[in-house]
Amino acid sequence: MRIILLGAPGAGKGTQAQFLMKTFGIPQISTGDMLRAAIKAGTPLGQQAKQVMDAGKLVSDDIMIGLVKERVAEPDCQNGFLLDGFPRTIPQADAMHEAGISIDCVLEFAVPDEVIVKRMAGRRVHPGSGRVYHIDHNPPATEGKDDETGEDLVIRDDDKEATVRKRLSIYHEQTEPLVAYYRKLAEQGKTAFHRIDGTRDVETISSELGKLLG
Ligand code: AP5
Ligand code: ZN
Repeated sequence: MRIILLGAPGAGKGTQAQFLMKTFGIPQISTGDMLRAAIKAGTPLGQQAKQVMDAGKLVSDDIMIGLVKERVAEPDCQNGFLLDGFPRTIPQADAMHEAGISIDCVLEFAVPDEVIVKRMAGRRVHPGSGRVYHIDHNPPATEGKDDETGEDLVIRDDDKEATVRKRLSIYHEQTEPLVAYYRKLAEQGKTAFHRIDGTRDVETISSELGKLLG
């Protein structure tokens, strides 16, 4: 199963990816996590991406397309994958389809901007795994520590309110047009498309996804 998770920053893509990975045994391909790993490793890509990400802007289409094409060709993606944060522009979507990478299902997570701004203030992440928590809605068993490794949780560099607002405006400008793009493909029978109300609690959304995809 090849799934695209579409939605604004903070809409819950990474959170539901954790559930879908476990339930369907397919890997999560988070382009944001890949870029953060490159920054941490100090690679040329990471050095280039850091400023762009901290400003809440998008890394260039060419770089992202190359990165994802390489990743989906790896053996663990044979039986499917979850694209989390890609495609994010029409050219990224076009490139994927031109490369013959078909998609079974697109899930759009709908959450109003003001809910997102509030949520992001409470997000904590485990950099090593990409696991995501929220201090109120999805807290770890031990405050400030990852459930599986016990390592420290951190606040993402781009979660400052001003940066979140910038990311939201870029989402509406450059990524939201993909909703119409995939709805049209769905009308042509080329993929399935589901709009998910992302304002409900984490478990309610997971159980809806389980039923939809089950
Ligand atoms: P990326 O890492 O992809 O960030 P994003 O899309 O902005 O999304 P987030 O990770 O912020 O949110 P999410 O939807 O995963 O929400 P989460 O589950 O964590 O990208 C970062 C940057 O990398 C970009 O800005 C760009 O610069 C660059 N980049 C990446 N991909 C790119 C591409 N393809 N092209 C160009 N540039 C690219 O949840 C958020 C919080 O809410 C958490 O605290 C969580 O616990 C909580 N929460 C989740 N669900 C619920 C719920 N139902 N109720 C209450 N709280 C909830
Ligand atoms: Zn995420």
